[in-house]
Amino acid sequence: MITKINQLLQEVEAFTASDAGQVEAFRIKYLSKKGLIGELMNDFRAVPADQKKVVGMQLNELKTKAQEKIAALKEQFAAADTGGRELDLTRSAYPIRLGTRHPLSIVKNEIIDLFARLGFCIAEGPEVEDDWHVFSSLNFAQDHPARDMQDTFFIESHPDIILRTHTSSVQTRTMENTQPPIRVICPGRVYRNEAISYRAHCFFHQVEGLYVDQNVSFTDLKQVLLLFAREMFGEETKIRLRPSYFPFTEPSAEMDISCHLCGGKGCPFCKHTGWVEILGCGMVDPSVLDNCGIDSKVYSGYAFGMGVERITNLKYQVTDLRLFSENDTRFLREFEYAY
Ligand code: PHE
Repeated sequence: MITKINQLLQEVEAFTASDAGQVEAFRIKYLSKKGLIGELMNDFRAVPADQKKVVGMQLNELKTKAQEKIAALKEQFAAADTGGRELDLTRSAYPIRLGTRHPLSIVKNEIIDLFARLGFCIAEGPEVEDDWHVFSSLNFAQDHPARDMQDTFFIESHPDIILRTHTSSVQTRTMENTQPPIRVICPGRVYRNEAISYRAHCFFHQVEGLYVDQNVSFTDLKQVLLLFAREMFGEETKIRLRPSYFPFTEPSAEMDISCHLCGGKGCPFCKHTGWVEILGCGMVDPSVLDNCGIDSKVYSGYAFGMGVERITNLKYQVTDLRLFSENDTRFLREFEYAY
């Protein structure tokens, strides 16, 4: 029996095949129930008990070798097998759906383009800021409510280090590092400690503008903002400035535009007032200029700041702020043709 096993072992080792059919024939010949190895298994019952161990081991080795051989050959032919189909290597790949630009980026870029045409450069700064650039340099008194724990995210171990609550910090940095004329817009993400709902989020985006030079007046500010409103919301758009308060501007104002949905006649969107608020602005407080090393006796300036989410909501009537950060592609794809 040992001789027979060794003979089969040699045959198995010497076997080669040129296609998958030959491998299958080999499998049937050796390994099927009635195959050669199967027959040996049957004969094994008759082997005397004292030889069973040795013969059994040899027989198992033969079986394993045959199985391994078949597996290796099968794999070799499977890799080369095209399943009878011709491969067309010139076919284009499956179409990959392109992403779309985020609505906030679309609107931010639009705002930037518009002010770039008026000669404004982009200025950027850190999101993790110090108290001086976000608050102190901008006249926020030590007990100003905006510094409150409820509004500002503090970095725990450093009460002086915070997440910026507005991009006015970039204006401060620009004024500290440059002498007038300064004409910059500061786009960026800002953080406020608010409960998240459809109308508030703990982070949002702003674009603030700053112009400092000799003889800059409120008229200049108004003219630039009127142009902005018309470009953004249509030629017929009117603007209205209401007196307001910001620690870093004097005088300060909030700007409304005539409701672009009803043309100012009054509708649910503008709560039947005909106006919707879009930004804050004012003349840079002389003490802020001085804080940043700019001589307020020589120079004056204006500043304005708007929320990109707010402008986007007005343009596209997005009613839930949370949609902007959920990254639901069904929502994002709605803006596929917006740019
Ligand atoms: N920094 C103000 C805010 O975040 C906006 C603003 C900027 C107002 C510049 C006036 C001038 O609300």
